[in-house]
Amino acid sequence: MASKRLGEIMQSDRRYLFQNYGDRLPACFTAGEGSLLYDQDGRRYIDFFAGIAVSTLGHAHPGFVKRLQAQLERPIHSSNWFYNREQAAAGKLIGELSFPGKTLFVNSGTEANEAALKLARAHGQSISPDRYEIISFEGSFHGRTFGGMSATAQEKIRRGFGPLVPGFTYLPFNDLAAASREIGRSERVCAVITELIQGEGGIRIADREFVKKLTAMCRKRGILVIIDEVQTGIGRTGRAFAYQHYGIKPDIITLAKGLGGGVPIGAMHAQNELSPLFGRGVHGTTFGGNHLACAAAEFVLKKLKKPALPKNVAAVSDFIFGRLTAMKAKYPLIREIRGMGLHIGVELSIPGMDIVTKALAAGLIINCTAERVVRIMPPLTISMKTAKEGMKILETILASEVGV
Ligand SMILES: Cc1ncc(COP(=O)(O)O)c(C=O)c1O
Repeated sequence: MASKRLGEIMQSDRRYLFQNYGDRLPACFTAGEGSLLYDQDGRRYIDFFAGIAVSTLGHAHPGFVKRLQAQLERPIHSSNWFYNREQAAAGKLIGELSFPGKTLFVNSGTEANEAALKLARAHGQSISPDRYEIISFEGSFHGRTFGGMSATAQEKIRRGFGPLVPGFTYLPFNDLAAASREIGRSERVCAVITELIQGEGGIRIADREFVKKLTAMCRKRGILVIIDEVQTGIGRTGRAFAYQHYGIKPDIITLAKGLGGGVPIGAMHAQNELSPLFGRGVHGTTFGGNHLACAAAEFVLKKLKKPALPKNVAAVSDFIFGRLTAMKAKYPLIREIRGMGLHIGVELSIPGMDIVTKALAAGLIINCTAERVVRIMPPLTISMKTAKEGMKILETILASEVGV
């Protein structure tokens, strides 16, 4: 039963907002500190979700608050007609954390992918007008705009919006033979776009061999490799970017989610030689990389460069994987544990939403993806103490599910 305060908020939600998110989970957060959140009635929750892997530094991080407050007293926006110190600083840091190249700032993950898809098409057309095909993989998620949606090889995302952008080919994930066949057969391929951990697809991890050989195959044929790091980037998997676990050199990476620590921002970062394809006036956005968003990104990226954050991710990740492995031995409803760093999926034999709802009622925020996969993605700053408390709640819920 919702409290009076929450009831009022729910009522105005239904009255004034599109109901495209359906019934939301019954909480409205009004305060937060670190990996804790407090709802409209002051109830405390442990945040194992970070707003879909966004709140990299948790909530109300003192240094972050100070930096954003300082920026609020300066221009927060001036447009891309002007030079922007924060934008260049954030671009420099992305290059230092990934590979030397050029960055283009946008406002979301799907826009970062739009930019990458356009850059890939521009690259293809620079070779031949027929070189426009883009390969993506089943189970992927690349966003909700027309380009992002067209690249997303999940029928449930695309249904009802046709015709979509032509020129996309969907192949089975982790199937090197299928990729090799398509690349060998078609002269039209200009790019491949893939996640390395399919987040919305159920925390499915790309095989190392698949990624390495696919990348080598693409390199040989001048096909661009776009790694969608929207969910896996910014330290989420224990390295700054997931591709760094694979020993590959992408042509383009796309970022968003954790980049602004909660302030909306996305980015496409590409190898230097691709940047002339986006000459003056070819692509752009009004808000992309404004002073406030880039001040946020600069702060987050500076934190990511220091050893403390990756060290914490490694320690908490080891602890959570350890606890989950022990729980799997005890509770047969855990089918599989997958993930890297603090990007963790627990595949269950029952619908994950039941567990999410029960966890919320018990003061733990987790998420469900791909029907049966419970997703754990806390802020990268989460303390071991809070992680322990959260795992205890999760275990209590799973134990009660199997009647232990
Ligand atoms: C891998 C991946 N790409 C792209 C997107 C789209 O990002 P946004 O919702 O910011 O447009 C998402 C969002 O979940 C994602 O996980």
